[in-house]
Amino acid sequence: MRFGHFDDSHKEYVITTPKTPYPWINYLGNENFFGLVSHQGGGYCFYRDARLRRLTRYRYNNVPTDSGGRYFYINEGGDTWTPTFMPMKKELDFFECRHGLGYTKVTGRRNGLRAEVLYFVPLGETAEVHQVTLKNEGTAAKKLKLFSFIEFCLWNAHDDATNFQRNFSTGEVEVEGSTIYHKTEYRERRDHFAFYHVNATVAGFDTDRESFIGLYNGFGDPDVPCAGESKNTVASGWSPVASHGLDVTLAPGEEKTFVFLLGYVENPRAEKWEKPGVINKQRAKALIAKFSSTEQVNAALGKLREHWNGLLSNYAIESGDEKLNRMVNIWNPYQCMVTFNMSRSASYFESGIGRGMGFRDSNQDLLGFVHLVPERARERIIDIASTQFADGSAYHQYQPLTKRGNNDVGSGFNDDPLWLILGVSAYIKETGDYGILDEQVPFDNDPNNQASLLEHLKRSFDHVSHNLGPHGLPLIGRADWNDCLNLNCFSETPDEPFQTTGNRTGRTAESVFIAGMFVHIGPEYAKIAEYKGQADEAKRALSEVAKMEKTVLEHGWDGEWFLRAYDFFGKKIGSKDCPEGDSQILIEPQGYCVMAGIGVATGEAKKALDSVKERLDTRYGIVLNNPPYRDYHVELGEISSYPPGYKENAGIFCHNNPWVMIAETVIGRGERAFEYYKKIAPAYIEDISEIHRTEPYVYSQMIAGKDAVHHGEAKNSWLTGTAAWNFVAISQHLLGVRPEWDGLCVKPCIGSEVPEFTITRKCRGATYRIHVKSLGGTGKVKLKVDGKAIEGDLVPYAKAGSTVNIECEAS
Ligand code: BGC
Repeated sequence: MRFGHFDDSHKEYVITTPKTPYPWINYLGNENFFGLVSHQGGGYCFYRDARLRRLTRYRYNNVPTDSGGRYFYINEGGDTWTPTFMPMKKELDFFECRHGLGYTKVTGRRNGLRAEVLYFVPLGETAEVHQVTLKNEGTAAKKLKLFSFIEFCLWNAHDDATNFQRNFSTGEVEVEGSTIYHKTEYRERRDHFAFYHVNATVAGFDTDRESFIGLYNGFGDPDVPCAGESKNTVASGWSPVASHGLDVTLAPGEEKTFVFLLGYVENPRAEKWEKPGVINKQRAKALIAKFSSTEQVNAALGKLREHWNGLLSNYAIESGDEKLNRMVNIWNPYQCMVTFNMSRSASYFESGIGRGMGFRDSNQDLLGFVHLVPERARERIIDIASTQFADGSAYHQYQPLTKRGNNDVGSGFNDDPLWLILGVSAYIKETGDYGILDEQVPFDNDPNNQASLLEHLKRSFDHVSHNLGPHGLPLIGRADWNDCLNLNCFSETPDEPFQTTGNRTGRTAESVFIAGMFVHIGPEYAKIAEYKGQADEAKRALSEVAKMEKTVLEHGWDGEWFLRAYDFFGKKIGSKDCPEGDSQILIEPQGYCVMAGIGVATGEAKKALDSVKERLDTRYGIVLNNPPYRDYHVELGEISSYPPGYKENAGIFCHNNPWVMIAETVIGRGERAFEYYKKIAPAYIEDISEIHRTEPYVYSQMIAGKDAVHHGEAKNSWLTGTAAWNFVAISQHLLGVRPEWDGLCVKPCIGSEVPEFTITRKCRGATYRIHVKSLGGTGKVKLKVDGKAIEGDLVPYAKAGSTVNIECEAS
């Protein structure tokens, strides 16, 4: 069942009922100021860091779902309603939410009054615009009251949700004309404040939550809107809010627009005050002046559209498959940009106070957006590498505001260092910017201890080869990509975090997955060393890689598939010999080892992928492991803590499905790769939205597996490495256009289901127009570049500014 439809010409998803299976959200903001907004106006916003600088409140895990947002209440002759449906839930004659690229527009109509709310963050600004347009579609004149409403968070979202003995006494505001200023803690160490403004004269205002809502009421029946009269309250302590009350009259057919602006301002310390106790509002007023008319708002929205159109033109496909087109051209890259901005911090499943930026996550996210904003990818690489330790290991997470490693989580995830090499190689292939390797980058953010980025990569590489276990495979540490495979944890105590509790410190538990990564990513490091004139280092790296490849085939092969790991006691994980009730096959090494080319020549690769098909594939995607772990295993950790079919215990963990797709193209089975792609790509499963439940325009981290009670139900949409990897899989491997070290590789492997397509790819300043006839999915190609046949699949890079026409016949 569907709850809306794609509108590709506007690059929007149009939701036509408020009653979707779950709140379907969108993201606002591009650089420093971000917001989450649901189709019902729910959500919140923050400056740079969802934990430390949150402007508005949101309550996760609330009843009803999706409580708290930027709300507009309309009271027309005692009938009070909200055009976003929530929170008043009054029946609407018409409802529509258009989630576009960086903006959301929700329209509701009741009793002949049409109310449209447009939410977006203008480029380069630290503010959200909420533009409300009211239209009288009836035949009689209308007189009504409009009330805005937001609830302030007292900045630190964690403290705000826990430290009530202090926070109920700190709240402070100022009201001046049509602007409400939130200045909690500004009197002491903060030099930032928020404001909420409207470009009209107000009839009244409110800033005290209890007065606005009523102590025993909720957002759905608040006192002030229902009574139709603001109380002009000035908050002192408790919970500051901001509400404007406006009197509106509308002749039949008449339309009026109001621009609300929710902004964030920082003042230099010396300029904090206008006079004792009164905020210096100059900067706020300057910001307000930029958005005080509809024309200014429309111009800013136009710029935002242009910005996105420009970004998305870097990789575009035209094919007969409109679902493929909309995934590749619009929604997948859009999600990649959102994961770039948010990492895993703030979504409707990530509270914004739990996690900062992940080391491995951000490096993988980079693969999906490096072609969109290469200069920002460069900056991100330096930020990430600065949190690496001198021995090559890395903080697992860092806070975006401070860019410092997070001590609570620490290090010891032994896959982390390798992802940095992959991120850097993707960046250089995209841009040709080898100069980045000479950048001096600190270890652990210590300016007194720094080395070139190249040296960082060497230490990443060596961290693996210096930490091998009894079989010569890499030690897993706290965990590898699978955060839940905690082989040194041994936790018997509830509340101990699986990832940071290390009750055994043996050097025995080994990961076949990291070995696969090493074989896949090690040659990238060798290539980089070679480019820097270090032929011996490149040779050394390749010989380590070759050794590891041998080790995998010797100790990491189980007969029909790759083993997953060896546990603390040296017992096999993911083997046909594992006892009943334990998993016998796990997906990660099957995808990754084949991506690395292990066993391609000798047949193991094909066998492993056939085993994936036989044992892990389902109608909704490929599960992570099979059978699921039936019981909790103290020696395995979190993976065995989940009920069968969920998350890392046999859920369809979408992140690693594309590894299998890419692996299928490595052995020349494009049709199967595309079959897997269609199972999880959101646009292809729009029709089962009632089962899938999360947004049909973005990937979710997990879809419940075949052993789960709710097979096919997705969770954790938006912030997942799935976005980047699926973009890599479809754009670089199935459609087959990817930047390599010495040219643009054109090697489609998708099969005849997409018989003909054209790709426009911008790279290093040149434009490549690639017309493909896809006759089969074996990955073999014949290329003509500007009319001339060439050998192989590598098109030499052209001069910036030029256009290259490529004809490709893929068989
Ligand atoms: C984490 C990833 C991890 C994955 C699998 C995600 O929640 O962000 O870093 O690789 O789970 O455990």
